[in-house]
Amino acid sequence: MSIPQGATDVRREVLANFEGLYGRSPDLLVRAPGRVNLIGEHTDYNDGFVLPAAIDRELWIALRRRTDGQVLARSLDFGEGRFSLEGVSRGEDSWIEYLKGVAWALTKEGHRLSGWEGVLGGDVPIGAGLSSSAALEMAALRAFAAVSGIPWKPKEMALLGQRVENEWIGVNSGIMDQLVVGLGRKYHAVLIDCRSLEVEAVPLPEGVTLVVLDTGTRRGLVGSAYNERRQQCEAAAAGCGAPALRDVDAAMLEAAGGLDPTARRRARHVVTENERTLQAADALSSGDLERLGRLMDQSHASLRDDFEVSTEALDLIVDLARSQPGCLGARMTGAGFGGCAIALVEESRAAELADRVTERYMDALGLQPEAYVCGAADGVSITQAS
Ligand code: GLA
Repeated sequence: MSIPQGATDVRREVLANFEGLYGRSPDLLVRAPGRVNLIGEHTDYNDGFVLPAAIDRELWIALRRRTDGQVLARSLDFGEGRFSLEGVSRGEDSWIEYLKGVAWALTKEGHRLSGWEGVLGGDVPIGAGLSSSAALEMAALRAFAAVSGIPWKPKEMALLGQRVENEWIGVNSGIMDQLVVGLGRKYHAVLIDCRSLEVEAVPLPEGVTLVVLDTGTRRGLVGSAYNERRQQCEAAAAGCGAPALRDVDAAMLEAAGGLDPTARRRARHVVTENERTLQAADALSSGDLERLGRLMDQSHASLRDDFEVSTEALDLIVDLARSQPGCLGARMTGAGFGGCAIALVEESRAAELADRVTERYMDALGLQPEAYVCGAADGVSITQAS
């Protein structure tokens, strides 16, 4: 089983790199977590419910304010990028676009920004469905807010992060990722009403743990069927005469005559997933982990059969996890089309499950998966660098 390299190592690395690169020490250190979603998939952009948790896989930025309106940044993984805050314009697909998008969104909101120089690094796997992009957006928002004296309001900032994703990057994603990266809480999952943006922290009980199972396959969100799914959901809501699928129940769906079979299946996933998510939050609060596990299993089946965003690799890793002792439930997590699954596992069996699943997955597909136990972490934070 592979254990994460550890936040302290990455933290140390960005701090050391900063000194090496800029010849002085940074002022500030931003930390933004990735996330897993326990349940409530493809419900956020339907005004529905989600139950994610921020995780102890994190992105760090060591930074120092600049007074010349320049942003200079080095990513430990992707190299250097820079831009001027004067007339930010879209460039080629690259990680720096997230920083530029954030500067654009804050400026559009009427904020006057200062520049900064920084070093970024982290251990959130990229493009794996663990919200590496939302972590980068929220970290960049936190950095710009700090150097520019903008008050930090997590919900407003999450909405700006979503705007970056939708309008600058071009993915029509919902609000879940940015909100949980902004408002996650250690040892808790968060139940989010994606219409009212009300957030409720639900404690994760002791004795069970979440194992992230990374299939080693990757999706490209922009080029993928994600935006198409969203359109299908909107069309299905309109076909039911409702503003969003949040407002549709099984009876309304049944009664809606004009829906084509695909739209009907997409809608059925969202309608049932919203119910499952509320039930899951309830099961979690009352410590009924077997029920939570069953709901996770049902969620996976619905994503596979009705929403059609699972893959052979995700189905296999979920089935392998599900057949191990101590596994209460398993499902794909995030947008799908590749990436990660999660399993809810009795703590004492987690290491054994991770070993067995990785070995059998490797035998079956010849692809190297990764498995690690993750804990629920706090949302984005900032401290003095020293
Ligand atoms: C991605 C998006 C989220 C959400 C999930 C699917 O992570 O960024 O807004 O729609 O997919 O639940």
